[in-house]
Amino acid sequence: MNPSELNHPIFQRISESAAEQGVEAFVIGGFVRDIFLVRPSKDVDIVCTGSGIDLAERVAEKSGRKGKVAVFKNFGTAQLLLPELEIEFVGARKESYRLDSRKPIVEEGTLEDDQNRRDFTINVMALSLQKETFGKLIDPFGGVSDLENRIIRTPLNPDITYSDDPLRMMRAIRFASQLNFNIEAESFESIKRNAYRIEIVSKERIADELNKIILSPIPSRGFNLLFDSGLLKLIFPEMANLYGVEYRNGKGHKDNFYHTLQVLDNLSLNTDDLWLRWSAILHDIAKPATKRFEPQGWTFHGHEDRGAKMVPGIFTRLKLPLNEKMKYVQKLVMLHLRPIVLSKEIVTDSAVRRLLFEAGEEIDDLMMLCEADITSKNEIKVKKYLTNFQIVRQKLKEVEEQDKVRNWQPPVTGEDIMEYFQIQPSRSIGIIKTAIREAILDGKIPNEREPAFQFMIEEARKLGIEK
Ligand code: CTP
Repeated sequence: MNPSELNHPIFQRISESAAEQGVEAFVIGGFVRDIFLVRPSKDVDIVCTGSGIDLAERVAEKSGRKGKVAVFKNFGTAQLLLPELEIEFVGARKESYRLDSRKPIVEEGTLEDDQNRRDFTINVMALSLQKETFGKLIDPFGGVSDLENRIIRTPLNPDITYSDDPLRMMRAIRFASQLNFNIEAESFESIKRNAYRIEIVSKERIADELNKIILSPIPSRGFNLLFDSGLLKLIFPEMANLYGVEYRNGKGHKDNFYHTLQVLDNLSLNTDDLWLRWSAILHDIAKPATKRFEPQGWTFHGHEDRGAKMVPGIFTRLKLPLNEKMKYVQKLVMLHLRPIVLSKEIVTDSAVRRLLFEAGEEIDDLMMLCEADITSKNEIKVKKYLTNFQIVRQKLKEVEEQDKVRNWQPPVTGEDIMEYFQIQPSRSIGIIKTAIREAILDGKIPNEREPAFQFMIEEARKLGIEK
């Protein structure tokens, strides 16, 4: 290991402080791994023989940051925040776990004990901060060689490591997906055996790992591993349900699980947005629930509406946010067929205007999702769809320039109607408002106040309302 990787002056200070206190200190875990992967990282974990809290306090004092240490007594950890680095101190420990909890019984231990209790060989490497051996790598389980061979492996028997903390099964898959590594076969078998233990892990932590898998460069890698290990069925059964093909009268439908993964991968080439990626995952989620065999073959009528309705339940269970992010995903699921339907017909201004009105700000994301949704193996079909899509995009641009329907509010409001006719809020106002909006979207009247006002008077008259 090249000690220059530890050239931030804080590492010298930690080294001196540890020597003064008669303890040994090491940099350990993700920070060391990321040096080898040449991934910049600002989270530093320091482990020492003795009290992590005492060491942190001395380091803070030496750095002119006395009193700036955040102490977490219950965990025996302390945190020091520098502008460039977030440093966490902990005493080396030995842990034993009970079957029903992720919370271990903790005792003081040696560096070796501490390394033994960690998750993967690539995450247990440590760098010495002792004066004589400053920067020396301590790699008892072959982490460097596993990094070179791109392997995720546990330091101990995987049944122990995963059973101690079942979240590690998700972490193994997350690292494999993020880093494009393989999970060692024995380890993967162990994940299959221990999958059921995921139930003791909090939903929030599972969601964190799931989101990291979704944000990895080729997310299907992670999802295939989740599926094959049996974890997906436990944490996200709706998605596992997409798997499989049913045949009737010799006719099959496509496997919606692999289709969804392909859409997700296609989309991920063009966006790092978590929620747009979520909309790819959920776009066909209601296909199993809406599947029917009809004379012309398999149909999934209404899967977009039904899918949008499933989103809040899924977000609630997975502990994902129930805010505008969820509404965004719902909207894209709901509208995901619209551009493709549009592109199959003659693309009229009014259809485009309507789509623009409904999608609003999300129109570009929706188009991206729909393009990613073209996964046909038939090249002629793909070419036709993509060409039609270009036409839809062009039309969208023209209509938007001309009518500005994105984020549009009709030129006559409910207040206008009440004021003109001197009436109280009532159902009629909603009816008139809708009629005006529809007339504009259909291109029957222009998107301007005067014609809309005239139209309002006519519509009101039909309802027996006059000034
Ligand atoms: N660790 C572990 N078991 C866990 C979580 C963490 O053994 N369930 C250990 C690993 O040695 C890991 C270190 O604690 O390297 C720090 O964990 P964390 O900060 O969660 O993750 P990193 O490995 O740093 O990776 P990332 O920052 O990508 O989450």
